[in-house]
Amino acid sequence: MTERRADLEIFDSPALLAEAVADAFVDCARSAVENRGAFFVALAGGTTPKAAYALLAAPPRRDAVDWQRTHVFFGDERCVAPSSGQSNFRMASEALLDAVRVPRDHVYRMHGEDEPQFAADAYAAVLRSRLGSAPVFDLLLLGMGPDGHTASLFPGTDPLTDNDRLVRAPYVEKLQQYRLTVTPLVLNHAREIVIAAEGDAKAAALKAVLEGPRNPVEHPIAIVAPESGHVRWMVDRRAAALLQQPRSTG
Ligand code: 6PG
Repeated sequence: MTERRADLEIFDSPALLAEAVADAFVDCARSAVENRGAFFVALAGGTTPKAAYALLAAPPRRDAVDWQRTHVFFGDERCVAPSSGQSNFRMASEALLDAVRVPRDHVYRMHGEDEPQFAADAYAAVLRSRLGSAPVFDLLLLGMGPDGHTASLFPGTDPLTDNDRLVRAPYVEKLQQYRLTVTPLVLNHAREIVIAAEGDAKAAALKAVLEGPRNPVEHPIAIVAPESGHVRWMVDRRAAALLQQPRSTG
């Protein structure tokens, strides 16, 4: 078993999981602004984070975040227009960003509508200009697919491929789609990483990643092992169903 630095928290329901993710966001935001004057966060896409984003878009959590000092990035994006129903930017805008007073120039969208490699290079330039050559997010939100992918690092490709880049534009065969994704270089420099996973479909991958041999090619989320940052796995009881000795956090 690889030594884990991760904390694992199991919640009795998706609603309790969403509250915990939203509270982690608020806590990270408060700490970052208090200690460094700004909060740099990278949002996850997919469906799991939507409930947490909705909680952050409403009182009391909305009013507990200093949105004027918050800078919002994305961990990955589908290569689609921002108006597409597949767009992570659109999902996050509808669930959160349109409801809070984050300055428009503090929201850094991956341009999924552009040629993929051009868009990846452009986003890497945005990261470097705002965060320097070794970007450090105060909070990086991630999800996990049933196949153990995270962001848009999918099985079959060594996540460490071309790891000198900050952003990659892989063609994902099984989705027949190009994606944009930050690389492990960015993932593993974050101060706090929250991985949220819920549902029966995630149980096998979660067991393999947390209790099996470490294999980032098979389960790319296994590449998440920050040198100095902290990883928090936040899952619901269904996703944790196959784990040994699950402990409930309530
Ligand atoms: C995306 C996400 C992706 C997501 C997982 C889990 O663009 O889809 O970045 O990595 O986190 O696929 O997705 P669900 O939350 O929808 O299960």
